[in-house]
Amino acid sequence: MSAEIIDGKAFAAGLRSRVGALAGAFEKATGRKAGLAVVLVGEDPASQVYVRSKGKATLEAGMESFEHRLPDDTSEADLVALVRSLNADPAVDGILVQLPLPKHIDENAVIAAIDPDKDVDGFHPVNAGRLATGLHGFVPCTPLGCIMLLKDRLGDLSGLDAVVIGRSNIVGKPMAQLLLKESCTVTIAHSRTRDLADVVRRADIVVAAVGRPQMIRGDWLKPGATVIDVGINRIMDTETAKGRLVGDVDFDSAAKVAGAITPVPGGVGPMTIAVLLRNTLVAAHRLAG
Ligand code: GUN
Repeated sequence: MSAEIIDGKAFAAGLRSRVGALAGAFEKATGRKAGLAVVLVGEDPASQVYVRSKGKATLEAGMESFEHRLPDDTSEADLVALVRSLNADPAVDGILVQLPLPKHIDENAVIAAIDPDKDVDGFHPVNAGRLATGLHGFVPCTPLGCIMLLKDRLGDLSGLDAVVIGRSNIVGKPMAQLLLKESCTVTIAHSRTRDLADVVRRADIVVAAVGRPQMIRGDWLKPGATVIDVGINRIMDTETAKGRLVGDVDFDSAAKVAGAITPVPGGVGPMTIAVLLRNTLVAAHRLAG
């Protein structure tokens, strides 16, 4: 193996501790804690784990955590009413509605109901528009975490060839916008891309967010490329007959060719929550005027 391992866990721990110190200063200056409301609808096991971790990390950073757990059969109208009440609550600086929502609820309608200035996930169309036009706004946590890791490793990204594999609103599209803002030459690849290996081979930066276990292989990479693996997939390990987490990149072959690579777990994953706390503190400062 030749690639340097990008330690997202350590970077995230540093960010969380900096945010914690600033959250303490916010409380001293305003007499109240910054607050994050997290809404979970239904019983999705992965979402339950994420929501629990988000609540715990919020408290650890010295912020207030408001958890709202609603049953699977909650109506869209009731969920929107809850979001509106959180918009109006001065103790709540950030609002996060955990996705995916149950099928009978229109996710876009719920996201649109969040006050854009409390939208710490950066999913509201106003924040997507701000990002696309270069205005200040909230940027989705996972792609912002990826950019932090890239800049920490590479410094100036300008002029580099970057390929984002995946075009979701949560990761792929905002990731491409952020790389463009850093003056990269950006390609967005997806399930209809012809000859993905050929596209990946040109890239100095590869961001994999397709949700397909170990799809991107080492022999697709340009030697020395920096690889950011956003995927979190549970697979059955044939040797141990136990489940284990893998990324969208085939780590073992990629680490032989890449210059640097994020592991799964311990790479991008921990950054998402750290950036969420950072966004919540930014929201608190903006709302406190
Ligand atoms: N589901 C998967 N990732 C996320 C995220 O970053 N935010 C929310 N709200 N839901 C998610």
